[in-house]
Amino acid sequence: MKKLVIATLVTAGALSLMAADGKALSAKCAGCHGADFSKKALGVSKVVKGMKADEIVKALQGYKAGTFGGSMKGVMKGQVATYNDEQIKAVADYIATIK
Ligand code: HEC
Repeated sequence: MKKLVIATLVTAGALSLMAADGKALSAKCAGCHGADFSKKALGVSKVVKGMKADEIVKALQGYKAGTFGGSMKGVMKGQVATYNDEQIKAVADYIATIK
């Protein structure tokens, strides 16, 4: 029984290490959105800082699918095209914690 508990804990630990790192995934966004997402990217986006995680997920999924955005949505499509659902969620969760 003890062995089973230990095995479970080790597995859970390994999984959390593999989880997407929202901070690292958002590093490339800084050039346009600012390091703390307080800039209007290229002068046109909303300020992302202060948006809720689920709003950010919706926006990023929409850019990826081509169903969301304004005149410059193509710029954002390129940014998130290679991010999977887990990575998008991780980025959004990270941004929502920026104070
Ligand atoms: C090359 C510049 C550039 C980079 C890099 C970039 N963005 Fe953007 N982002 C924009 C522009 C421009 C818009 C507005 C696009 C539109 O809808 O017309 C935008 C819009 C957004 C929005 C929606 C805000 C709104 O106006 O509703 C979110 C959320 C967002 N970006 C997050 C990110 C994240 C997360 C990253 C990094 C993975 C990122 N962006 C990287 C330029 C950039």
